[in-house]
Amino acid sequence: MQNLIKTSDFSKEEIISLFDDAKVFLDMKSRDILKGKIIVILFFENSTRTRSAFETAAKRLGADIIALDVGTSSRSKGETVFDTVANINATKPDAIIIRHSECGLPGSLVDYVDCPIINAGDGKHAHPTQALLDLFTIMEHFNDDVEGKKIAIVGDVKSSRVAGSNKRLLPRFGIDVCFVAPDCFKAEDDEYKQYDNISEIIDEVDVVMSLRTQLERHNEIFFQSLNDYAKDYCITKDTFGDRDILLLHPGPVNRNVDISDEMLVDPRNKVLKQVTNGVAVRMAILKKLILNQ
Ligand code: CP
Repeated sequence: MQNLIKTSDFSKEEIISLFDDAKVFLDMKSRDILKGKIIVILFFENSTRTRSAFETAAKRLGADIIALDVGTSSRSKGETVFDTVANINATKPDAIIIRHSECGLPGSLVDYVDCPIINAGDGKHAHPTQALLDLFTIMEHFNDDVEGKKIAIVGDVKSSRVAGSNKRLLPRFGIDVCFVAPDCFKAEDDEYKQYDNISEIIDEVDVVMSLRTQLERHNEIFFQSLNDYAKDYCITKDTFGDRDILLLHPGPVNRNVDISDEMLVDPRNKVLKQVTNGVAVRMAILKKLILNQ
């Protein structure tokens, strides 16, 4: 039985095969591939995209979804997350999808459950399904010819699990990753080039991924106002000029802080395409993990 806790849980060959399935699932037709299967969704953190994409993916494949409302679960009576998951496991689901603020929590559960665990984001650590859909979107855009392409990941790299998963996944496919951030948001990571300003690298990149400022994960105030941050890091028409660059963002986008209104309707921006691709990629992940194929 396989789990998806981090992108390295899948080999390169498995990811390519997963993407072959996802390309088929982009037709968004309903199928019976997972008819009779039950998938439990346990989100201890807020979500719009990941949760709705997983629910849509499961329903498109014919599975039933149990989305536990953790706000009204017995967590409020003092039950630990571990016991909550052990009890959910005892109901014999076919997969558990979990998001939690604690780094490493989904991975710590795998030896205690009888079904695949899918990490839907754990603290600052990893967001493997997001990185997989990001890679899928980049490969789709460049017709799979991504070897040697360069991506600048811009913003709060230090607190971002999306940056964490992408910096580990994209180089496996020959994509060169660099970061652009103010000092307070830079990763403590010498492995990747880090720049202070996007203007230093904009002429060399093929893809820009903007990130949200993860205020909920900060334990101090770095900017009195996000407008101060936006002055240097918001992606605008001026940033891109007429360069042919793919613009991505995992969402949620803070308008005019991460990306300007104007760039959110620019054809180079594929933020909503990422969301659509996220459904197809998650359909392929559910099929692979639940059916072992
Ligand atoms: N990209 C992402 O994880 O978005 P949500 O927090 O809305 O799921």
